[in-house]
Amino acid sequence: MARKKGILDFMKMKKDGEQAAWVTAYDYPTASFAEQAGMDLILVGDSLGMVVLGYESTIPVTMADCISHCQAVRRGAPNTWIVGDMPFLSYQVSDQDAVENAGRFHKEASVDCIKLEGGRRVCSKIKAITDAGMLVMGHIGLTPQSSGQLGGFKAQGRDVNSARDLIIDAIAIQEAGAYALLLEAVPPELTGFIAQKLKIPVYSIGAGQPCDGQLLICGDMLGMFETFTPKFVKKYANIAEIEVNAFKQYINDVKSGQFPTDEHVYHILDGKEEFEKLFKEF
Ligand code: KIV
Repeated sequence: MARKKGILDFMKMKKDGEQAAWVTAYDYPTASFAEQAGMDLILVGDSLGMVVLGYESTIPVTMADCISHCQAVRRGAPNTWIVGDMPFLSYQVSDQDAVENAGRFHKEASVDCIKLEGGRRVCSKIKAITDAGMLVMGHIGLTPQSSGQLGGFKAQGRDVNSARDLIIDAIAIQEAGAYALLLEAVPPELTGFIAQKLKIPVYSIGAGQPCDGQLLICGDMLGMFETFTPKFVKKYANIAEIEVNAFKQYINDVKSGQFPTDEHVYHILDGKEEFEKLFKEF
């Protein structure tokens, strides 16, 4: 079994130019498969609201949802760095809320760090959580929790003014104490600049190659989330098709009497006559 990576490994990987590969997971089996495959990190994203719970956005996701899914993922991947994603309104209201809720992720679900969305406007929260001894990953660019303000799930930093804002946010996040930064749906030119400018690891989801690693949502890359597929996703499997076909075959087998057969049942231990006698008692 591979040794669990930690913050010093991620810093070294950045220095050595080694890419980190990571994925979201929300349940025990997916976490276990990701760990078996050798994933460097796992994010228990609040995208669980859309991918697993069927909400239209991440807004309804609660702390209880996140904690419960982080616990399942930790059980499935005991030797992988796990990032817990702070849900909407678990950190925006006050520094104190932010510290208390970040603490819950650690105390109740044994995550290795938390991630929260936003630039300068959440820097006091990043600092407060860091000052309390926890590790924070920042997340800017397309930030799903504020997609209403962004006008939808839209790429960011494509013009000079919005790119400047993101560079200022990235620097502020590092200065507030974050140990890593995730860029979502920004142009690779901007990603490359920020990754070189910052000392901390900078990761991409839909932000191109020139940085320190790549994240994809498991539902997208495995073909399990059918509502929409962002342009930046590469599909590595079509689990939806596999599941629907398997369910169809099962329905067919049940209705045609091809399942269950002799190999799927528990046979009686005593003689047949004993059982016939038993049945006659009733
Ligand atoms: O919740 C999530 O999975 C995320 C990714 C979109 C980065 O935050």
